[in-house]
Amino acid sequence: MKRTKIKDILNTTDFGQEINIQGWVRTFRNNQFIAINDGSSINNVQVVVDFLNTDDALLKRVTTGAAVSVTGTLVESLGKGQRVELKVKTLEILGDSDPEKYPLQPKKHSLEFLREIAHLRFRTTTFNAVFKIRHALAFAIHKFFNDKGFVYMHTPIITGSDAEGAGEMFRVSTIDFDKVPRNDDGTVNYKEDFFGKSTNLTVSGQLEGELAAMAFGEIYTFGPTFRAENSNTTRHLAEFWMIEPEMAFCNLQDNMDMAEELLKYVVRYALDHCGDELEFLSTRLLEEEKQKPANDRSELDLVTKLNFCLDNDFVRITYTEAIEILKNSKPNQKKQFKYLIDEWGADLQSEHERFLVEKHFKKPVILTDYPADIKSFYMRQNEPDETGRRTVAAMDILFPGIGEIVGGSQREERLDKLEQRMYEMHIPVEEMSWFLDTRRFGSAPHAGFGLGFERLVLFVTGMTNIRDVIAFPRTPNNAEF
Ligand code: 4AD
Ligand code: MG
Repeated sequence: MKRTKIKDILNTTDFGQEINIQGWVRTFRNNQFIAINDGSSINNVQVVVDFLNTDDALLKRVTTGAAVSVTGTLVESLGKGQRVELKVKTLEILGDSDPEKYPLQPKKHSLEFLREIAHLRFRTTTFNAVFKIRHALAFAIHKFFNDKGFVYMHTPIITGSDAEGAGEMFRVSTIDFDKVPRNDDGTVNYKEDFFGKSTNLTVSGQLEGELAAMAFGEIYTFGPTFRAENSNTTRHLAEFWMIEPEMAFCNLQDNMDMAEELLKYVVRYALDHCGDELEFLSTRLLEEEKQKPANDRSELDLVTKLNFCLDNDFVRITYTEAIEILKNSKPNQKKQFKYLIDEWGADLQSEHERFLVEKHFKKPVILTDYPADIKSFYMRQNEPDETGRRTVAAMDILFPGIGEIVGGSQREERLDKLEQRMYEMHIPVEEMSWFLDTRRFGSAPHAGFGLGFERLVLFVTGMTNIRDVIAFPRTPNNAEF
């Protein structure tokens, strides 16, 4: 008999039919009721065993985590919270799970604990919901750009350049450290080497994206990117996924419009397609909120928060305006900011970003025109202001609970200005001649941005640690499998 997926029978009224389902045991109560999940839905289906007529030895093998195949009749359920159940005719154990050893018990586990068993946490309802939403968001992003005619570019993972010029790269090497001779002190003479060339894992596909945009007009990338920064926060990964659209004949204004439209589109998509998952996570979040001190609780539930993001225009202000707001405010009656903003030119700390978004405007905020010295070499240089301060046509989008979710800019398309800035910032101009060719031959205004995919998933799922929205997080001390 062909297997039926649980998601396809949960709402059926076609009772009396005989079906086969296969999945993993979540719970087994009173020697009679098995809750089975096959991953197709966050919901389980209840299977009722005729235990008087079933072999005891077989029933003993129905343990949490075991894989089973059940054939039976679909009937209306009288139980609370479920419409259907399956009356068992045949029950087969496909794979046993030793209850003494299986780490997932039929109870609520902490996210910290589940992080330690990342290879099994997919089997919990929470992670089923998170990764279904992650999938839906990825699909929505491709749909958004595809519908607009953007070309999806696969940019290289191994590259010789540092797109951000920040030196946060993992080196790639073909050296087998186990085979090269060791020095007396056990160290090896390490020379970065990719068949003779120095290379690293990409920090961003932007530079290659720019090359493609200057031919296709509009492209996007969506792939893994790597940052060798040793930051142990709830918002940083060493390996994360980034979406990077790049658009020719486009300025900063168009870039902001595109980013806001994309974010609203994908949030809308999740609301429309992941109702069950969002409802489950929302309930989970409310329980967590109850345990926090009253003044630390979020004012909005998850779905309201997502709708709120859709219903409001993002605030758009310059960095200089933001600094003025921050200088004139105190985060609350008594407390000053831990990091004071007294000088124009400093980068914003996450507490400043969160203050602007969560306390001051209470809306997503797009900050533009940052000081040139705290941004990357490729950003388009604005005319210096009346006091001679130099800014670039940058934009960062700040989201409630997240901070920076998008970073982007209009690009410097003027060859002389770009070269001059690269020299100033010690970027190897000669080695990047291929990049500068776009400015030599038919240069045109263009712009783009990078959306951090895990930060988007964090926002939509309401999870609070970035390690809980990527299957196998890569963070310092976390690369076991
Ligand atoms: O601001 P970033 O560094 O910008 C770039 O890489 C540009 N090349 C993008 C572009 O214009 N095409 O990174 C973009 C976004 C950030 O806003 C953040 O959401 C995410 O990528 N991000 C990270 N996410 C998780 N862990 C990290 N270590 C991240 N670093 C950046
Ligand atoms: Mg940034």
